[in-house]
Amino acid sequence: MKITVVGAGNVGATCADVLAYREVANEIVLVDIKDGVAEGKALDIWQKAPIDLYDTRTVGVTNDYSRTEGSDVVVITSGLPRKPGMTRDDLIETNAGIVKSVTEQVVSKSPDAVIIVVSNPLDVMTYQAHITSKMPRSKVMGMAGILDTARYRAFLAEELNVSPKDIQAMLLGGHGDTMVPLPRYTTVGGIPVTELIDSEKLDAIIERTKFGGGELVKLMGTSAWYAPGSAAAQMAEAVVKDQRRVFPVCINLEGEYGIENCYLGVPVILGKNGVEKVIELDLNDDEKALLNNSRDHVREVMNVLDKLS
Ligand code: NAI
Ligand code: 2OP
Repeated sequence: MKITVVGAGNVGATCADVLAYREVANEIVLVDIKDGVAEGKALDIWQKAPIDLYDTRTVGVTNDYSRTEGSDVVVITSGLPRKPGMTRDDLIETNAGIVKSVTEQVVSKSPDAVIIVVSNPLDVMTYQAHITSKMPRSKVMGMAGILDTARYRAFLAEELNVSPKDIQAMLLGGHGDTMVPLPRYTTVGGIPVTELIDSEKLDAIIERTKFGGGELVKLMGTSAWYAPGSAAAQMAEAVVKDQRRVFPVCINLEGEYGIENCYLGVPVILGKNGVEKVIELDLNDDEKALLNNSRDHVREVMNVLDKLS
């Protein structure tokens, strides 16, 4: 199995490192536009192999897509990250051009790959990659839901003083302030979370989750990478190992949840063909209203992209 990671910055290099030490594939190709960066980081990861005991070959290239040929999965992380004061949507113009050109080059060498987009604004960059690739929607998806639920799960584990391993959660919608965490579908060792925490504390955790990316940008002056890199690696692993994991994943909706042609996070089964199935939850009126609000926001940004192209 072969996985290409485009963008050898914070998220891309972390993703490649996780994929290598977890031996998810035999070969990881890291690509960047900046001379020497991907080569250097890939070499560093390879030199860690004798210490951490893995045998995944990791190679880096500067913009040479011939080396990516025949990849089973491609993770796209290339693009600008946020600076303090910016929203994810502020990145659209620059990142749309980058994602478009990267997708064209990736698809020309690996027409059967599953593409996982990470670049922001996530939902609309997934749209960009999907229309550029001309591939079925099941093969072009965005990573955000695993990260957003991980933040929510980590905050809950801290509040309840339990292992994060025992917290299961689902959320819907766009990767931004309009995301829709679902307390009704959150459990702690199988126990509904609402039995263990009062609604005021739960609401505060949901609010913190919605702005979880911004909290880190404020602290670090750039956006997060450890959890995002691992989240993208977890999706790639589900595909190359045909694990059929159930994750929230950004995909173009084609009537599910009553929504047509909008890229939103929804629960899916992820396996060797990419999104094997979209799972439709039975939402109550409040949840539907929140999801529709998220849809309206993502649509606005999709319209900005349409005007750019
Ligand atoms: P970074 O600045 O550390 O790395 C980006 C890399 O992309 C740089 O090394 C740059 O040289 C490279 N690049 C730019 N244009 C390229 C091109 N045409 N071809 C190949 N490489 C190119 O940024 P970081 O922190 O790694 O973030 C990457 C993207 O991921 C950003 O857009 C960020 O907002 C997004 N992000 C998304 C998350 C999500 O949940 N979906 C979470 C975290 C970050
Ligand atoms: C995050 O949520 C910036 O989208 C990125 O950390």
